This record gives sequence, C-alpha cells and structure tokens, in this order.
Amino acid sequence: MTHIAMTEASAESELDLCLDLIRSAFATVAEERGFTEATVPDHTAYTSRLDLEQLQARGARFFLARVDDQPAGCVVLAPGRRADRPTLQKLAVLPAHRQGGIGRTLVQRVIAEARLAGAESLGIAIIDDDTRLKAWCEGQGFVEERTADYPHLPFTVCYLARPV
Ligand SMILES: CC(C)(COP(=O)(O)OP(=O)(O)OC[C@H]1O[C@@H](n2cnc3c(N)ncnc32)[C@H](O)[C@@H]1OP(=O)(O)O)[C@@H](O)C(=O)NCCC(=O)NCCS
Repeated sequence: MTHIAMTEASAESELDLCLDLIRSAFATVAEERGFTEATVPDHTAYTSRLDLEQLQARGARFFLARVDDQPAGCVVLAPGRRADRPTLQKLAVLPAHRQGGIGRTLVQRVIAEARLAGAESLGIAIIDDDTRLKAWCEGQGFVEERTADYPHLPFTVCYLARPV
C-alpha cells in the first residue's frame, strides 16, 4: 500500500515545491478546457510565486503530501472573508499520483486543521460544470451554496462549504 506522508510546508524551498505542484496539477485542467495564460491568466494553472507569498502573508498555511519522499500533492488552508470560515484552496495532486487517495487525505488534513483553529466551517470554490469534482466534494461533506460569474473567468464558480 502507498504510504502518504503529510507535512506542513514552511521552508522557502517547500513553497517552491508547492508552486510546482499547483502549476503542474492545474495544467491538466487548463489543457482540457483549452485555457492558456494569455486567455485565462487568473486560472490556478498560472499561479505565481508572488501569489503564494501573498497568501502566506495573509496567514495561509500550506500542506504537502509526499509519496516515497517525492512531492505528490499539496493544498492551502487560507483565511476567508468570514473569520469562522477559512477556505480550502489550490488542491493539487500530480497526474501520476491521482486516484490513490492523496486528494482525499489532503482535504481531511485541512478539515482537521480548520477545526483545531476554531473554525465553524470550511469553504471551497470549484468550476461549476466540473460535475466529477463536485460529486467528489459532496462525497466529502461539502454542500453547494451559491454560484457566481466573474468578468475575468470564462466559467461559473460554485461555492461549497461543510461544517468542521
Ligand atoms: C481533484 C484532485 C485533487 C483529486 O486528487 P486525487 O488524489 O486523485 O483524489 P483521490 O484519489 O482522493 O480521489 C479520486 C477522485 O477524485 C475525483 N476527481 C475529481 N476531479 C478529478 C480529476 N480531474 N481527475 C481525477 N480524479 C478527479 C474523482 O471523483 C476520483 O474518484 P473517481 O475516479 O472514483 O470518480 C486531482 O484530480 C487534481 O489535482 N485535479 C486537478 C486540480 C483540481 O481540479 N483541483 C481541485 C480544485 S478545487
């Protein structure tokens, strides 16, 4: 059985690992949907080091999953607009490591950390028409709350949340 080792990323070098993981994992989404950095610069596939530094400066925490000592996935627990509802962001598992429970393990870790930090609930935002991802989130207790359209994004965003 695969052993998934989960740690909180803190060192500068680990932030770079997270950046690579996020960009690589979301590249498959961009590719499937035909997004490029020129057409959808705000898509997660084009996250920059500065984006992560700004998240960190706002108090976000980064978690890394390794398989056989190799980085395989990561996730961010970020403060939300409501103090009692942080958000789960940039959930990323490398294509070669998918379907092995790493994504679920990362989500479970963030739920536990949010609870420990005194949150009431945890929010997540996904592409609304990604029915497979939505069903997966619902399977982990997230409930759809609302959708929104933004001028800089060519898809509807769906906001889900679950109690922690
Ligand atoms: C979504 C994601 C994190 C799942 O990671 P994972 O380690 O494969 O997750 P698990 O092994 O715990 O669970 C697998 C389930 O993920 C779900 N899933 C959702 N989107 C998926 C995708 N694009 N590719 C593969 N699985 C996906 C499926 O329901 C799958 O189970 P199923 O095959 O029975 O339907 C991973 O596919 C990924 O990094 N995708 C690209 C980035 C992304 O969309 N992130 C979420 C944004 S909030």
